[in-house]
Parts: sequence; structure tokens; C-alpha cells
Amino acid sequence: MKFRDGFLWGGATAANQCEGGYNKDGRGLANVDVCPTGKDRSLVITGKLKMYDFDEDYYYPSKEAINMYHHFKEDIQLFAEMGFKVYRMSIAWSRIFPMGDEEEPNEAGLQFYEDLFKECHKHGIEPLVTITHFDCPMHLIKEYGGWRNRKMIDFYEKLCRVIFNRYKGLVRYWLTFNEINMILHAPFMGAGLCFEEGENEEKVKYQAAHHELVASAKATKIAREVDKNNLIGCMFAAGSVYPYSSNPSDVWEATKMDRENYFFVDVQSRGKYPNYALKEMERKGTMPIMAEGDEELLAKYTVDFISLSYYNSRCVRTDDGEGETAEGNLFASAKNPYLEYSQWGWPIDPLGLRITLNHVYDRYEKPLFIVENGLGAKDVVDEHGYVEDDYRIDYLREHIKAMRDAVTVDGVDLLGYTTWAPIDLVSAGSGEMEKRYGFIYVDRDNEGNGTLKRSKKKSFYWYKKVISSNGDDL
Ligand code: BG6
Repeated sequence: MKFRDGFLWGGATAANQCEGGYNKDGRGLANVDVCPTGKDRSLVITGKLKMYDFDEDYYYPSKEAINMYHHFKEDIQLFAEMGFKVYRMSIAWSRIFPMGDEEEPNEAGLQFYEDLFKECHKHGIEPLVTITHFDCPMHLIKEYGGWRNRKMIDFYEKLCRVIFNRYKGLVRYWLTFNEINMILHAPFMGAGLCFEEGENEEKVKYQAAHHELVASAKATKIAREVDKNNLIGCMFAAGSVYPYSSNPSDVWEATKMDRENYFFVDVQSRGKYPNYALKEMERKGTMPIMAEGDEELLAKYTVDFISLSYYNSRCVRTDDGEGETAEGNLFASAKNPYLEYSQWGWPIDPLGLRITLNHVYDRYEKPLFIVENGLGAKDVVDEHGYVEDDYRIDYLREHIKAMRDAVTVDGVDLLGYTTWAPIDLVSAGSGEMEKRYGFIYVDRDNEGNGTLKRSKKKSFYWYKKVISSNGDDL
């Protein structure tokens, strides 16, 4: 009942949520910089409120975040102390191409990540790199409308060529787009989309999604050409949808909601638009315009592995909607009465992880990688920076057990597990600092006060033990 030797234990972050240094060393402005905290954040990330620059009435947490830009050596040292085998992080596109459409990359940006990858290797940590984690240079949004524009494929391709060549030998695990299905729910974050009055939003989203899917296939092609050791993964926000009851209409609704998420992986892993999607797009008039050669590219350059985030399962009911709803990663759904809930109202469902892994593996039969799983919670810190976070340990322990069952009992082929996030950082959904996920506490609050000092929580020592026992000692 063991994980394979070489199982990749580690943690995951994203540039926009931890780096800060938003204007350092030539970095350009990005969509993620202008997502404020507060009630308008959800309007901005969903593309309903156009915010293309800073507004002095708002606070923008990603500008400084936890300043990993200047703390990365210390942070990687702490990850190494926990025994990380892998560190998932993302590249800020606008550090490499500040505008996005210039010919030459920004050397300082390239050098920053080169130093970071070398630092990882110094500690025997393999980097796992997300090429875009919700970020897009603002110039590409203002000038081209973000991913609704086909030209984005060329800009992304250029970015990929540059980073694959520059980091050859330093990075071999790549993810093309973080939570690619997020485009349907937070389109400004997922694809730099804002909508015009009266526009068919769904059509725009699927057109942008098509461009991302083609860009992902092109990236796969280039990655293989540059270095045959490269392994490319897609990444989606997973979490199976349960029918609220055995009423067939609930079951059917759950099937449709699952497909909404699987659609992306169906294309990236099976290499073509599935029939259910083609039929629906025809019916709704949302079929994207495809260029000659797109279908061949999608068919030929499918991913090597499938990565996913899992925070919670979802639940759907089709009766008159009297029941309560629950929050969750990606979208709110019906409240499942059998589950407990986090302080942010997200369901806690460890068995749901096993169920999800089995669904995904049965469907695609490719190696999987859990690249996000964790609990956002309020921590109480003592004067030494220590946090007794047993709730976090409990959450992770139960999820790791479920993952172990999926691997050792059910035979799911799993490459590794990276928790979200090993260090406290800015929440993507709410912009808060105090929705903490880390094993490492960072002294910073929702308003940006604090020393940024790092300290170890109880879970730090626990996760170290989990890794050193390869998941035996939970
Ligand atoms: C995923 C994202 O959606 O969930 C992360 O890939 C994000 O960027 C994580 O931080 C947790 O969500 P939140 O809203 O609690 O930060």
C-alpha cells in the first residue's frame, strides 16, 4: 500500500499570488495586478467591471503579495527543509515579455526565473512550471482584447519558444494553462476577457477557449521539438459533480456539469472536440471559428499527463431550488448535507478526491498529477510566529489517505501531489491574505500591513514527516 519511489511530493504557488515586484526590473503590467480586494473583485475577475489600470480607491494585493521576488531563496530553503521533491510555480508572462507583443524578451525577467530554477536544483527540487496562471500582459488585453483574439496564439507561442529554449535542462515538467476551465467562470483572470453590452458572452468565452486550446497544442509541439525530455500537462479545476438525489434529472444535470469541465481535457487529452460539445455549440450558436490546421494540431499534440486542482466536490439539484447553496472552487453549487464546510463555505470531501481521480483516470487513462489541494483557513499566530493548525493537518491527512486509496487500491497512475499552497499567499478568489493555506506563516494582513517575516506552523513539521515517510506516516 505504498506510493511509488520517486513520487513527487511538494507544494504549488502562482506568480501573481506570491511574487509581488509588479514593476521591478522591467516587468509589465498584467491583468492580475489590477484585481483589487473587496466586493468589486468578483466583478473585475469575471470581466463585468473593466479595470485596466490602478484606481486609488482600491487596494491591489498582488502588487507586493508576499514579495517572493526578493525572498525566493529563503522560501525555497524552507521548502527544501520539508523535503520537497517538486515545486510548482508559474512564470509571470509580463516579466518575460512586458507588453506581450515585442520581438525581444526582457533579459532581467528571464534571469530571475533561471536563478529560481537553479536554486530549486541546488536543493534537489524539480520545478513544475505553469506557463500561464491567470496572467496576461495588460497591453495584450487593451490592444487585442485578450484571448478572444487569435493573435494571442502567436504571442503565447513566442513566449513558449523563449522559455523552453532558455530553461532546457532546468525544467522538464510544464503545464500550459492553469485551470483552463476557469475561463467560463472568471474570464478576465482566465483569458483577459471583458465584455461589451449585449455581447454573446458564451460565444466569446468558447472562442477564447479555442485559442487557448490551440496554443496549448502548439506549446506541446514546441516543447517536444526543443527537448524530448519535456513532459507537458494540461490543468483543470476538478471536483466531480454529485446529483443531489437519485432523481434522473439531477443525475443528468450532474453529467452535464461534469462535461462542462471535462470539455477542455477531452480536447487536450483525446485531441478533438467531443460530440456533446459540438452539438451544444451548434444548438446555441457558440461554435468557435477554427482556422485550417487547428483540428490536426489538436489531434496530434495531446498532453503527456493530466494535472488537476481538487478542493471540493460539487452537487446539483433540479427541483425548485429551495435548498441552500455552498461556495467552492470555481463556482457555488447545491449544499451537500453529508459534508462539512470550511470557514469560506467550501465543502470538505476527501472521498470526493478518490472519486474524482477515478473518474478522470477512467476517462483518459493517462498519468495524473494533483497540483493543488488544500484548506484556506484563518490562523491564530502566537508571538513566535507559530500556528497550531491541526485543522489544516486533518484536512490534508484525509485527502492524502483518499489519494493513497486511489493509487494503491484502485490503480490510478499518479505522478505526484503538490499542496496549495506551502506558504501563505494572496487568495485568487477573494484577494485576502488571511485566507491562509500555508505550512509557512507570512506576517501580512488583508490591508498589506506586516513584516513579511516567514515562520513555521505545526503543519510544517507534519508535512516534512509525510514526505520523508513517502506518505506512510500521516
Ligand atoms: C485555484 C487556483 O482556483 O484555487 C489558485 O488555481 C487559487 O490560484 C486556489 O489560489 C485557491 O482559491 P482561493 O480563492 O482560495 O485562493
